[in-house]
Amino acid sequence: MIKRGDLYFPTKDFKKKAWLKDKKIYREAQKDPIKFWENLANELSWRKKWKKVFEHKPPYFKWFVAGKLNITENIFEKNSQGWEEIKNKTAIIWEPEPEKEKPIILTYQELFQRVNKLANGLKKLGVKKGDRVGIYLPMIPEVIISMLACARIGAVHTVVFSAFSSHALQIRLQDTEAKILITADGYYRRGQIINLKQAADEGIKETNVEKVLVVKRAGNQVSWDKNHDLWWHELVGKESDQCQPEIMDSEDPFFILYTSGSTGKPKGILHTCGGYTVQAKFTGKWIFDLKEDDILWCTSDVGWITGITYTAYSPLLNGVPTLFFEGAPDWPAPDRWAKIIEKHKVTTFYTAPTAIRMFEKYGTKVIEKYKFESLQLLGSVGEPIDESAWLWYFKEVGKERCPIVDTWWQTETGGILITSLPGIGPFKPAFTGLPFPGVKVEILNEKGKPCKENEAGNLVLLPPFAPGLLRGIYKNPQKYLETYWSQYGKKIYFTSDGAIIDKNGLIRIIGRVDDVIKMAGHRLSTGELEAAVNFHPDITECAVIGIPDEIKGEAPVVFIVYKGQKSVDEVKKEVIEHIKEEIGPIALPKEIYLVEDLPKTRSGKIMRRILKKLFTRATAKGEEEDKSSSPTDQELGDLSTLANPESVDELKKIIGKK
Ligand code: PRX
Repeated sequence: MIKRGDLYFPTKDFKKKAWLKDKKIYREAQKDPIKFWENLANELSWRKKWKKVFEHKPPYFKWFVAGKLNITENIFEKNSQGWEEIKNKTAIIWEPEPEKEKPIILTYQELFQRVNKLANGLKKLGVKKGDRVGIYLPMIPEVIISMLACARIGAVHTVVFSAFSSHALQIRLQDTEAKILITADGYYRRGQIINLKQAADEGIKETNVEKVLVVKRAGNQVSWDKNHDLWWHELVGKESDQCQPEIMDSEDPFFILYTSGSTGKPKGILHTCGGYTVQAKFTGKWIFDLKEDDILWCTSDVGWITGITYTAYSPLLNGVPTLFFEGAPDWPAPDRWAKIIEKHKVTTFYTAPTAIRMFEKYGTKVIEKYKFESLQLLGSVGEPIDESAWLWYFKEVGKERCPIVDTWWQTETGGILITSLPGIGPFKPAFTGLPFPGVKVEILNEKGKPCKENEAGNLVLLPPFAPGLLRGIYKNPQKYLETYWSQYGKKIYFTSDGAIIDKNGLIRIIGRVDDVIKMAGHRLSTGELEAAVNFHPDITECAVIGIPDEIKGEAPVVFIVYKGQKSVDEVKKEVIEHIKEEIGPIALPKEIYLVEDLPKTRSGKIMRRILKKLFTRATAKGEEEDKSSSPTDQELGDLSTLANPESVDELKKIIGKK
């Protein structure tokens, strides 16, 4: 039985059939990473080959310069598996939330026809290459069809997570100036129908949206404005199932996905056509060891990058069926996810540590009857996986037979950049592993010097960078420069993650070093939450910190300075409503505290670090009984620089009361 700190290697059986089993791939790639990526790119179908593989004008860079392709050609008619081979194979398996409803299974051919019909429909609505299209859809087949239809005609999709609020949708539509929004009447979540159209109606206010295309999913009543609303089935019904692909330049914009940074406003991460396609295809193929008979279930919604790359594009580029699910993995019973794995004979299961910890908490008894014989490989993503969750996943789900790939990456990187490869290993609980071949990383201290073994520092990426790395922040070059290319100069990409490296060269991710919280794997910004809370007219000031959470990894805690007349409970309720309206229910805080004052420096900066220390210490598990849960001033650091040190005493009392 594998224990904490042990190294684990793939079984002989796994190794025998794996795409990659020899460590020499790392050496080859290391020798000439540009050539390495070029060789991979050569396996795709291009309309025109590139003139130059890599061009670097810091902080900007290009891959496969002047190459031309379309990702949908590589998924469909020119798939590297051969169109005749895959056209009658399953492309997507969709499991609806209500158990009485039948799954929808589409072959590559059927998916292709639906994509073309919508692509023609979008053209009829006036969508042209380079136009932005908003997609605000739940996890139903149409969400993948929409993304692919945009890709077919060169439109830039911006998928907005369906659990985001109408306000979150609105700011994304405003920033992208999308003229078309694709949405649905509603969808099922934990047995309820969520009226998505209503949120879409709100979200398009004060935007450039001219037409709203609506999928009929849940059959709920929706309000209808003939001037801009159109039913999906009515639009596509009349269209041809053939559509010529738009020929895209490698560096043409492909999609924009918004993500949270340190400040209040979400950033539109821009990915381009060529590099993203190469990286999506080969990271999927090698990291999930995708083969003809595999079925990949990546549990991420396509509102997040994990879903975009590994629920949608990567499996399809590899000619493999992708399974996706409308509902929550523990609805209507805690073993729903296990049932789905067995029902569809999933071979590759990719999820977040939060889900693993939740399954673990429900108890092993819940899954006792499942043998998971179809499973061959497990994956983890989105937040650090602790040893105990890793070991549980390995034993109870993977039955000590399936390797676990703990994959590190970001919205910005487009695809996975660090993980041990499943046929090579080694795997070590809580360590992500080695950089993917052709990827150069380093862990640097504040001065820019490489850290020693087991010394914590900042994880950075070095040139030539992976081809799928972002090319910019939409309409905000200054932010691009400041966020990624200023800490260590214009040639080193700063990830905002802390990490350590062990004696085997394996990397462990410690967590974000900026003001981003990873709650249940979802990326939230404390600044964005603070902006939402400050919206309340009677709140003079607030601070949001992320604190450790047993299941969700991290969770936000809000401190409020309130000067109004309402009761504490009323204020808390209103704050929650504001967060729901501004961001969505996924961002709800774990605790809200009303305080007299917040610790500040003399220049007025709120000391979130002190709040975090106070809170983390007071709620830390496993404290020795005789120790006070209140941190000492020494632990809090130098308080003499504070303008109001007395605020710390009040906070100690309030938090201590918990
Ligand atoms: O902090 C790292 C964490 O998730 C951040 C990126 O979040 P997002 O852009 O939403 O993309 C999530 C999925 C790719 C990173 O900066 N993170 C991602 N994967 C891991 C991780 N932390 C630890 N271990 C991982 N495997």
